[in-house]
Amino acid sequence: MSPLPSKGGAPPRTERRLKRPTKVTPARWAAWLTVRRTFDDDAWTDRAFAAVAEQLGLDADPRERAFAQRLAYGTVQGAKRLDHVIGVLGKRPLAKLDPPVLHALRIGVHELLDLQQETGEGGERLGSASAHAAVSQAVELVRGVVGERAVAFTNAILRRAQVDGADILAKLDPADDGDLAVLLSMPEWLVTRVRTAHGQRGIDALAAQNEPHAGTAFRVNAAHAGEDEVPEGAEPSATVPGAIVVAGSTAAMSPAVDAGRLVPQSLSSQLVTLALDVQPGDRVLDMCAAPGGKTTHVASLLGGRGEVVAVELHEHRADSVRALASRTGTRELVRVRVGDATALDAADVGRFDRVLLDAPCTGTGVLAARPDARWKRTDAGVAELVELQRELLATAVRLLRPGGTLVYSTCSILREEDEDVVDPTPAGLEPAQLPQAVREATDCDGHVARTWPGGEFAEGFFIARFTKLAGEVA
Ligand SMILES: C[S@@+](CC[C@H](N)C(=O)[O-])C[C@H]1O[C@@H](n2cnc3c(N)ncnc32)[C@H](O)[C@@H]1O
Repeated sequence: MSPLPSKGGAPPRTERRLKRPTKVTPARWAAWLTVRRTFDDDAWTDRAFAAVAEQLGLDADPRERAFAQRLAYGTVQGAKRLDHVIGVLGKRPLAKLDPPVLHALRIGVHELLDLQQETGEGGERLGSASAHAAVSQAVELVRGVVGERAVAFTNAILRRAQVDGADILAKLDPADDGDLAVLLSMPEWLVTRVRTAHGQRGIDALAAQNEPHAGTAFRVNAAHAGEDEVPEGAEPSATVPGAIVVAGSTAAMSPAVDAGRLVPQSLSSQLVTLALDVQPGDRVLDMCAAPGGKTTHVASLLGGRGEVVAVELHEHRADSVRALASRTGTRELVRVRVGDATALDAADVGRFDRVLLDAPCTGTGVLAARPDARWKRTDAGVAELVELQRELLATAVRLLRPGGTLVYSTCSILREEDEDVVDPTPAGLEPAQLPQAVREATDCDGHVARTWPGGEFAEGFFIARFTKLAGEVA
């Protein structure tokens, strides 16, 4: 069962017709609007939340905004688990519930089961001050949006969730993939694939993506020579050279980010570029470049010579590569090409010293950053992505010069998109040991490496490095 609802034929309501019920706090109203847009209008949660927060003026109140985001993201992520509790207590199929009521119940149950004890970075309480507030807010929301007819039902479900919710979940058996999928609030196909490939370590990696990560990583831009001192409030990463980590609020980093001295970029993502071991003067091809974190990282390591050809399928995404290159002072070394990287340009065959294929993938290693992603990916979609990844890889081999270096990476923890794409080693390549910094930072087996979400890494990436055999022209 997926929590995607109940779109039920009705056209999406527009928020212009919806007014915040006076007794409902802006944070809960923002969360409800975001959850509604995610599930009823198929919107991306992060974009929906940003738009709603701006519309409601939450940006002026960081604490209220943080609470609203935690509520919205947590409800979307936890929808399958929350729906299980609501379904058991409601004794009726969820599809029979009015979507606005279901969304209010989801938020209320999330508050009751998950947020009561939660505190923010300054030790302040993030959750509602009391279970009473969680229940009464959901009830007021339903009263305001749907009317009196659904109030008694909402009230009864939430009062019972408060008493019985944890026990309902405790009855599930974590050894069963279906039950574990409910407990982790993940699609069952994902749980099955990850458990089959990686056992408990993979399950831990899924669970870790439901938790907020302790630190935010930035890359210190090597293109800004002489300005690489660690900003106040940040610590150098213990594992990734050139990275810093900020615990808590990152607001103080904004001026350095705006000036291009710092680039928000995960530790795993930075390791991918380090795996390429770029040398000054190299000609580098980045086949799937947007939004450009790795393109500009590569460019910053070229010592002012050479080039990065950054290919991106979508024009609007290519714009973000150009913008980041400008901001980071690497624009002169970056040539952005909009197009399909599988469409080989004969003039480029054998031209590049290094090729980075940071492939489009399921993103099952970065689920924390996209709360709705787990509900939008499908089991059948994995095979389509694998086909594209293999096609891109074959092109990468042709474009690389003999003796050149290829790095294949994904932000997926699915073996099908990772080891299975590069093992057996594709024709024309031989495995190449990853640089020491990458080997030491990761779970590494010579030429392939993984980062696992949880611990110091927020994300799960796969990295593999190869050399093109001498004598292989195309
Ligand atoms: C994983 S993201 C790349 C992230 C990027 N390397 C970075 O570090 O910022 C994959 C990108 O590949 C692009 N893409 C998908 N199919 C492509 C294709 N056939 N040719 C070129 N780019 C493609 C997507 O639009 C997306 O921007």
